[in-house]
Order: sequence, then C-alpha cells, then structure tokens
Amino acid sequence: MYVIPETLVDLCKKRMEPYNCEGFVYGKGPSTPEIMIVGEAPGETEIHNGMPFSGRAGKVLDEFFNYIGVSREDIYFTSTVRSRPYKIVHKKSDNNETFIKKYNRAPTMKEQLAHAPILDYELQHIKPKQLVTLGNIGLQRLVGKDYSISDVHGEVIHSKVRKLKDMDSTEWIVSDETYSIFPTFHPASIFYNRSLEKEIYKDLDKLKKLLEPMKKS
Ligand code: URA
Repeated sequence: MYVIPETLVDLCKKRMEPYNCEGFVYGKGPSTPEIMIVGEAPGETEIHNGMPFSGRAGKVLDEFFNYIGVSREDIYFTSTVRSRPYKIVHKKSDNNETFIKKYNRAPTMKEQLAHAPILDYELQHIKPKQLVTLGNIGLQRLVGKDYSISDVHGEVIHSKVRKLKDMDSTEWIVSDETYSIFPTFHPASIFYNRSLEKEIYKDLDKLKKLLEPMKKS
C-alpha cells in the first residue's frame, strides 16, 4: 500500500483552508498498480469513511472494473482534489423551518492548485502502467483545457502531464515523464445522463484491449 508523506498532507490541508472544502481522503492502492484512477474530488460518503470511491459513484465504478476483469487491488485511486468541495443551500422543511444542506460541487481552479502537490507527488513516485481519468476535471488537470472529455473519451493520449512549477506558484509546467492516459466519463455522469452509460461501456471495451498486453508483462 502506497502512502504519501504526512508533511505534504499537512501542507495541502493548510493551502485548502480558505475554501469551502471539508475532510481529507488519502489516495489508496499499491505502489506499482496496473491502473491509476484520477477522479475529481471525494463526496460526502468518502470523507466520512476515508475510502475513495465508496459512495454511489464508486458502486458504479466497481461495476465498470468488474466488467473488464480488473480488481480494486490492482488500482491506485486518487483525485484532483482530496477534500469535498461543497456549496451551502438554504432549504425549508415541511413545517417551514429553514435548514442548511451541503451539496457537492466541482472543485475550482484555486482548489485544484491548493491540492496539486499531492497528485504531482503521486505521479512522480507511483508507476502506474495506465492512467485512467474520469470526467473533465481529472483529464484537464493532467493535460489542460485543450482536451474535452466528450471529444477524447476512449482514446489513448500519450503525453507529459501538468505539474505545479513550484509550491508557491499558480503556473503549470509539464512533467519530464510521458504517461499513457485513457480518459472516460465520470461514473456519476450517468446519474444525470443515462445515455452516457453506453458510451462508457464502449470505452471500457477499448480499455480492456489496451490492458491485455500489460497483464502479460
Ligand atoms: N469522485 C471522485 O473523484 N472521487 C471519489 O472518491 C468519489 C467521487
């Protein structure tokens, strides 16, 4: 099991303090995984039990990986941001009392920059055979806004990835190493657009083929 240094976690928690984000979920998985999943950010379930992709989207993700015959033990799970970005909505109960509810939202660029050193570190120290990004946030964190998930899902991208120029910077530079990146939609996307499920399964067929020679080596 791979564990990032606690000093890095403390630093990034501090960088995140100005923002509406809660909890902290560590990446999870082996140090030489077959696949590294790069998601968006944890949700409510994940920040309560500390396990990446353990909520509703995680159940769907498990079905995807069952389909291609990859077990959780062969995957390192990480995400662009490691705390749950939330927005507060004031709601009214049936007896007209106002209460506050927190909803998940996509991480802002400032939040992505605050937690960037963690993913940079993981990419440098963990040697995944294949990166799999879920949704636009994970994809664009690695290769920038020229790439959009609806255009490139299911296509392998061989590319250097973005990393912070230095800890105090808001500027991205590119890594020395080149990675193999396979983008597909985020599993939660099917909750809002059921037709994406068919597209995802077509992507998974391609991912399965891509992984076959790696399994033999
Ligand atoms: N989405 C993510 O990107 N990560 C999780 O852990 C859950 C949902």
